[in-house]
Amino acid sequence: MLHTIKKIGVLTSGGDAPGMNAAIRSVVRTCAFHDIKCYGIYRGYEGMIDGDFVEMDARSVKGIINKGGTILKSARSKEFRTKEGRQVAYDQLKKAGIDAFVVIGGDGSFTGAMVFNQEFDFPVMGIPGTIDNDIFGTTHTLGYDTALNTVVEVIDKIRDTASSHNRLFFIEVMGRDVGHIALNVGVGAGAEEILIPEEDLGLDRLLESLRRSKASGKSSSIVVVAEGDKIGKSVFELKDYVEENMSEYEVRVSVLGHMQRGGSPSCFDRVLASRMGVKAVESLLIGKSNYMVGIKNDMMDLTPFDQAVKGKSKINMELLRVSDIMTV
Ligand code: F6P
Repeated sequence: MLHTIKKIGVLTSGGDAPGMNAAIRSVVRTCAFHDIKCYGIYRGYEGMIDGDFVEMDARSVKGIINKGGTILKSARSKEFRTKEGRQVAYDQLKKAGIDAFVVIGGDGSFTGAMVFNQEFDFPVMGIPGTIDNDIFGTTHTLGYDTALNTVVEVIDKIRDTASSHNRLFFIEVMGRDVGHIALNVGVGAGAEEILIPEEDLGLDRLLESLRRSKASGKSSSIVVVAEGDKIGKSVFELKDYVEENMSEYEVRVSVLGHMQRGGSPSCFDRVLASRMGVKAVESLLIGKSNYMVGIKNDMMDLTPFDQAVKGKSKINMELLRVSDIMTV
């Protein structure tokens, strides 16, 4: 393999996601395989600005493939959004002799990498790591599959208590502005309704659907609500609204929160992370830069950063219909 790159940096940036450690491991080991030095950059772009680097070899990443979070820590850096901040980061990389970097994160992290590449002609490559799955150019981001499994397991538990008390539960899940998590766990956990930002169900139709469900003999119900849902009320206001309009229901709310980001990555995320790390490093070594590695039809794929950042990841509308049919 022809390459002039001798030292590659790796960082995790933005919200952490299960599988980030597996991706760090893969980047480090792919570098070792090709006799390239690898440096871990702590705390995302914050650590790049501070020159907080550590040399890593194949053994530095032992025992982390199964660990949640990120051993390199993560941050959302305000300073890196300024030209001055990026200049300091560039000087630090040059001082350490780092020729290129791989950033594992979401679209904000990729925007930073893209601007950095334009300003300093510095080789960069991205690996999508976020539980939200909200990135164009890949059917799966790292951590998404694990989060789905975590949430389904929790909803199964909530259903036990919901059915014991004949209660209706509103369960709020993460996903920022998109409904991928809500839609998939809603179908996977057999929710009666799924509220996502991509589809405005409206309060009337929600009540109608709950009434239908009650009339069909169901005694308890689960409604999954995406945190970005635009129904116009918070999940707690939704509870009050339904209780006011349907006295037959006793309603509870469960906001799952950050537990959705933790835990040991699923096998799918570990394999995906391993593949993405290899692809990212080997792409840099053949002279590619300014791309995000993704997966499409089970094949590794590269999407230019500007498309990954500007494009919209679309939810699978078929799942909404499947959900409607399942709740007949
Ligand atoms: O992007 C991942 C995510 O967990 C979103 O689902 C959520 O909206 C957000 O991050 C929470 O951000 P923070 O880590 O700042 O609480």
